Amino acid sequence: MLVFRSIHEYSEWRNGLSGDVSTGFVPTMGFLHAGHISLVKASVKDCKYTVASIFVNPVQFNNKEDLDKYPRDEANDIELLEKAGCDVVFIPSVEEMYPDEVNEKYEFPGLDDVMEGAFRPGHFNGVAIVVSRLFRIIRPDVSYFGKKDYQQYMIVKELARREFSEINIIGIETVREEDGLAMSSRNVRLSEEKREDADMIFQLMKRANNLKVDFSPKEIEAHMTTMLSNAGFEKVEYVCIANGDTLKPLKNWSDTDHARIFVAAWLDNVRLIDNMELI
Ligand code: PAF
Repeated sequence: MLVFRSIHEYSEWRNGLSGDVSTGFVPTMGFLHAGHISLVKASVKDCKYTVASIFVNPVQFNNKEDLDKYPRDEANDIELLEKAGCDVVFIPSVEEMYPDEVNEKYEFPGLDDVMEGAFRPGHFNGVAIVVSRLFRIIRPDVSYFGKKDYQQYMIVKELARREFSEINIIGIETVREEDGLAMSSRNVRLSEEKREDADMIFQLMKRANNLKVDFSPKEIEAHMTTMLSNAGFEKVEYVCIANGDTLKPLKNWSDTDHARIFVAAWLDNVRLIDNMELI
């Protein structure tokens, strides 16, 4: 596997390709787990070349402490990518990605003002800035995003529709731990004791499916919020049942046949998010 740290090195490699150059791209912030590896494997299956990137993007963190505490392990990431069949990893520095002041502004009305967008102001602008820069550098045909960050996946699809119509955006199902906790680089920050309660989000989302017949979306949201607080989650930022195509919060089940439930809650000073389709 080739490791490039500069745009120049990567571009030289990319320009030198000939024949079938179909390229799949998996952008990451490192500290890789089975969820990331499932994206890499999907790309390896679909494309001639697979490129991953590792870049902890400062402009998408609205909380300095979260950025400072973001876990990193580059040597292990490189090993995991290589094992998964990745061809190239791009690991730029902050100076390489942002040599000048960053002042792009992206807005995604309806998609970036709810849920994560409401609780993490500027976050999706930062994601759109880095993803568009990476798309211009990497020049992929396909790019893979995990549905664990479903709202991000929807926003990147909209970004590609506007500016990168040549790139196909593929969403990959969330990979879970045995007890159902969605894999996330932040999970390592949970203490052993609190880790045992963390699957509660998944268990309650599953239960929401059964409650659909008797309760409205708002009643289920309120019930889940109470259950999470009772289970020791310090703060429940949102439990939101929304249309999975538009992210518009649902008033009635009859509003769509594509309902999804979204949760963001703090446990042990760690912010956990998850979502699931309701069927
Ligand atoms: O999902 C992530 O890890 C990041 O938001 C992404 C897409 C790599 C952009 O920094």
